[in-house]
Amino acid sequence: MLLSKRPEMFLPDLWPAYFSSASGARLWDLDGTEYIDMSIMGVGANVLGYAHPKVDEAVRNSIGNGNLTTLNAPEEVALAEQLVDLHPWADMARFARTGGEANAVAIRIARAASGRDCVAICGYHGWHDWYLATNLPSGDGLDEHLLPGLDPAGVPQDLNGSTYPFRYNDFEDLLALVTEHNIGVIKMEVMRNHPPKNGFLKKVRNLANDRGIVLIFDECTSGFRQNYGGLHMQFGVAPDMAVFGKALGNGYAVTAVLGKREVMQAAQSTFISSTFWTERIGSVAALATLEVMENEAPWDGIVSAGQAITARWQEMAAQYQLPMTTSGIPSLTGFTFNSPHNLAYKTLITQQMLGKGFLASNVVYLSTAHTPEMIDAYFEALEPSFELIQECEQGRDVLAELNGPVCHSGFSRLN
Ligand SMILES: Cc1ncc(COP(=O)(O)O)c(C=O)c1O
Repeated sequence: MLLSKRPEMFLPDLWPAYFSSASGARLWDLDGTEYIDMSIMGVGANVLGYAHPKVDEAVRNSIGNGNLTTLNAPEEVALAEQLVDLHPWADMARFARTGGEANAVAIRIARAASGRDCVAICGYHGWHDWYLATNLPSGDGLDEHLLPGLDPAGVPQDLNGSTYPFRYNDFEDLLALVTEHNIGVIKMEVMRNHPPKNGFLKKVRNLANDRGIVLIFDECTSGFRQNYGGLHMQFGVAPDMAVFGKALGNGYAVTAVLGKREVMQAAQSTFISSTFWTERIGSVAALATLEVMENEAPWDGIVSAGQAITARWQEMAAQYQLPMTTSGIPSLTGFTFNSPHNLAYKTLITQQMLGKGFLASNVVYLSTAHTPEMIDAYFEALEPSFELIQECEQGRDVLAELNGPVCHSGFSRLN
């Protein structure tokens, strides 16, 4: 159901795949084997770690009072108020339960507000028709945003020409799109692999202002990881709408669309509605998560831990003469070996680390549950893999070291 959780993304045939329980940064598979999660931590949803006591307690209390009724849950109003207070440019909020869904809501509202169909995108924004339509013309529009060769089967051909990709940090690319097509909406991730260069975000903002385009920042992954709120706040550029997910509910399903009043009011002219958007657990979990975040400022610790991990990868790569590229926001950091065998090396690392009690690949999503001791233990366990990879670079057959097939490649982005 989720591409990022497929065992083939990590260790085909050998990845544990299912968990029985989880707590902090640890989880247990169905055989009761314990692992420290040094990989994607609930695909970025669990900044406060798994089964956070305060968030879980709030959820348990809410269940006792009924989760979904004929009347609305007041917690969604409280959540809307908090999110709007945190983002002074925003006036209104709507909620959904998945990131792709919230992105589809945002696109519908933005198209209604701008009165134009065409969308320019940069990044990953979910699985819905409006987004996959990018791949209709030649099947390669999303090659560098998503998965190369992703087939948009089932997406109506009539959506061809409704969504266009542009490259991150390439303002001319976006300008050309906006000049050539009747773009009414720009949707982009604020930052994924590398920071904005040459005032990129500000230029995009100005372009949107000049052309009456609705600018949406998709902060599903970047929000509430590096700071309290959207990452865009750190760059001093405000969108017209922003989408949040993942970390907002620390593992419970809740996503949000924030927007300026004049844009959000366009929702009244269309139909956007769903039963389970009104259930209580999501809002309760988000409020509890925000309270913990406000008190504990998790980003201070996870940003510095992420920076330290990146530096240690680089040092180890230098020690074993392995050319490596690191990327990502610090609290979500990753590396790639600059070698044609990169995927085989990644598979090798996952295999070796699994045997030592770690879920690990080449990306670490930090959480407050990752202790310095865990991180030290991770590096101690990792070093022999780097040593082995050095030998492979000198001629040893990496495939002969693998107990199963090489892993599949994940998302790649235009950065
Ligand atoms: C930036 C961004 N937008 C949207 C999504 C889709 O969210 P979901 O998987 O909850 O539908 C993701 C998920 O990885 C994401 O990173």
